[in-house]
Amino acid sequence: MNASPSVEAWSAYWRSGALHSLDTSAQIDAGALLVDWIGWFDALPEGACVADLACGNGLLAGLALGFNGTRHDPLRRVFGIDIAELAPRWIGQIDPARRQQLTWLQRTPIERIPEIKGGFDAFCSQFGFEYAEPDAAVDAITRVAARGAWLQFVVHHPDSIFARQGAAELSALRMLLAPAGLFDTAGRIAANLAARFRGMPLDGSAERVRRDYNRLQLELDRLGRERPALLALLAEAREAVHAALVHASQTGDVAWLSQQRTAFDFALLRLENLVRVACSEARITALLARFESKGWRMAIADPLRQQASGALLGWRIEGCFHPDCDSTTAMKDGTDR
Ligand SMILES: C[S@@+](CC[C@H](N)C(=O)[O-])C[C@H]1O[C@@H](n2cnc3c(N)ncnc32)[C@H](O)[C@@H]1O
Repeated sequence: MNASPSVEAWSAYWRSGALHSLDTSAQIDAGALLVDWIGWFDALPEGACVADLACGNGLLAGLALGFNGTRHDPLRRVFGIDIAELAPRWIGQIDPARRQQLTWLQRTPIERIPEIKGGFDAFCSQFGFEYAEPDAAVDAITRVAARGAWLQFVVHHPDSIFARQGAAELSALRMLLAPAGLFDTAGRIAANLAARFRGMPLDGSAERVRRDYNRLQLELDRLGRERPALLALLAEAREAVHAALVHASQTGDVAWLSQQRTAFDFALLRLENLVRVACSEARITALLARFESKGWRMAIADPLRQQASGALLGWRIEGCFHPDCDSTTAMKDGTDR
């Protein structure tokens, strides 16, 4: 089966070894936990089966397993489920017995989670669940949930600092990757450098291309001054292009520039995904209604904010699966946990 370009984009990202997806969002310590996941996992019943949905390299799966500060429950089973291919480095740091408790289901969409004996007791997801097709994902989770199962998801919000930064980076990437943008112009320079490396004569257009390239550099300087949040991305793109041009001038090889460009094409796809899946209030309300219609009692759907700054981080939703209860007696305060 050929993977879609966005699945390839995520697989490439996880291959780079990142532990989670927030690396480019400079305004928050990306390693910080957005909610008290440790407390949430510790409150699960002994021996629970936990699914980390759209897990990436398994930040939450690791916590659920008792890696990085959580209580280690030797009976707990943890499933990391993602449509992409994963490459979690932290696995090498845990002992083999604990590794046995973990199952990776790669290339597995949430919409097709396999059933397990006894069902899943808990579903967690941080910026993952909303990437799936919502109705199909709710149905799939419901199909594989044990009675009394818990869920907690952190979901992208269109006004969060992550979505805003993502949208800004997306427009900058579109500009860098457009015809006559940085990568395109660098491609023409690289062709000239490669020709010179082979001792071939350059025609009069070479000087024009060089001027275009220098003008673009000035425009990027100005953009960076006006939008400091883009500085890291712009610097990364310029360094990649510069390295590829040096390489072309020293070897005559222009293919390296295309490889560098692919990384930015993938970043663009991932950010397009993020902006597309961020949930408005209407979408969150519809999602909760879908869960409730399937026997889930949804307790919370509040915007999640960073304590110190008040910055909006996303939505947090929580629920419990009680298929036989009257949905009008919806869980009020979560005390039946
Ligand atoms: C923003 S990343 C979040 C990863 C991880 N939860 C984290 O916080 O590091 C989104 C993930 O969703 C995955 N994804 C997208 N669509 C999916 C689907 N339908 N089913 C399962 N995973 C999916 C992508 O492959 C990617 O790894």
